[in-house]
Amino acid sequence: MASKIFHPISFMFLIFILLAPIGHAKRSIPSDKNSSPFDFIKKLEGCHKGNNTKDIHELKAYLEQFGYLNYPNKTHATDDDFDDTLESALKTYQKNYNIKPSGIIDDETISKMTTPRCGVPDIVNGTNYMQPRDNKHEPSSSTFHIVSHYSFFQGNPRWPPSKTRLTYRFEANYPTSAIPPVARAFQKWDAATRFSFAQVPTNQFSDLVIGFFRGNHGDGYPFDGRGGTLAHAFAPTDGRFHYDADESWSIGSVPGSFDLETLALHEIGHLLGLDHSSVSAAIMFPTFSDGEVKNLHPDDIEGIRVLYL
Ligand SMILES: *[C@@H]1O[C@H](CO)[C@@H](O)[C@H](O)[C@H]1NC(C)=O
Ligand SMILES: *[C@@H]1O[C@H](CO)[C@@H](O)[C@H](O)[C@H]1NC(C)=O
Ligand SMILES: *[C@@H]1O[C@H](CO)[C@@H](O)[C@H](O)[C@H]1NC(C)=O
Ligand SMILES: [Zn+2]
Ligand SMILES: [Zn+2]
Repeated sequence: MASKIFHPISFMFLIFILLAPIGHAKRSIPSDKNSSPFDFIKKLEGCHKGNNTKDIHELKAYLEQFGYLNYPNKTHATDDDFDDTLESALKTYQKNYNIKPSGIIDDETISKMTTPRCGVPDIVNGTNYMQPRDNKHEPSSSTFHIVSHYSFFQGNPRWPPSKTRLTYRFEANYPTSAIPPVARAFQKWDAATRFSFAQVPTNQFSDLVIGFFRGNHGDGYPFDGRGGTLAHAFAPTDGRFHYDADESWSIGSVPGSFDLETLALHEIGHLLGLDHSSVSAAIMFPTFSDGEVKNLHPDDIEGIRVLYL
């Protein structure tokens, strides 16, 4: 598997050129820049410990949603008191996103927190996997080896080591035009790892299932309309990968829209057992700007290699 390499850049470029008009067609709907569910954070500019501003409870809900906060006393979870616990959670968030951990809602923090993102929490059960750490499994190789920032889910769930061929299918109502970008994302993971992937018809059993859902769709992780969370997927061996149907999706880089293939690369990482990385160039970094197109990064590939050692 080590001999396999990524598709050349020129191939990516070609896809963009050929398919960009599809994305453009979607742009007839004017993009409402003020409708993101994360925009409340802008109102908290400059807030820090001791402040008691009306929207601080929304910040608490945000940090709780992504795993940074868990007040035992729910009164504190819903009040507007910028307390020690919130300051500490905010500093952890800032560290994970490579922002100076000031505990203040500064411009950089607002910019990061309002960027649309994957719905999977960054922290599970209080364990912050995004932070750099000693990799016990990691054989020390070269002096120049960068610190790895990839992470796994709690308990390192993974596919059985013997199961290297995974099948996937699409939900019955899945749009045909959105199949090729997902297939390409599977090909890229195939080329970079021990796994191979094969699509099976919608009515057959498969290891992985991909679909579009909106709002509360029954799995405990409701989507939030346009902006906010874009997609999510479950750790092995669950196999579910959901796109938020309320987003404007595109094939390739289109301003105001999100690239289906880029999000598929990220969510397939979750399906295989990777959690979020603090390396901003890694596909497993949690946030995605509109028009952003990303590829697999050595941090992602190393994560899978170590998980399946
Ligand atoms: C936060 O509190 C400081 C005083 O500590 C005050 O000057 C500032 O206006 C408050 N900021 C907000 C956004 O309420
Ligand atoms: C929760 O916090 C509130 C406000 O500080 C306090 O009045 C209440 O007694 C606390 N509840 C529990 C169960 O500790
Ligand atoms: C979190 O930890 C508790 C107790 O240690 C455990 O029962 C629970 O399953 C864990 N939750 C997850 C999502 O791993
Ligand atoms: Zn994610
Ligand atoms: Zn879902």
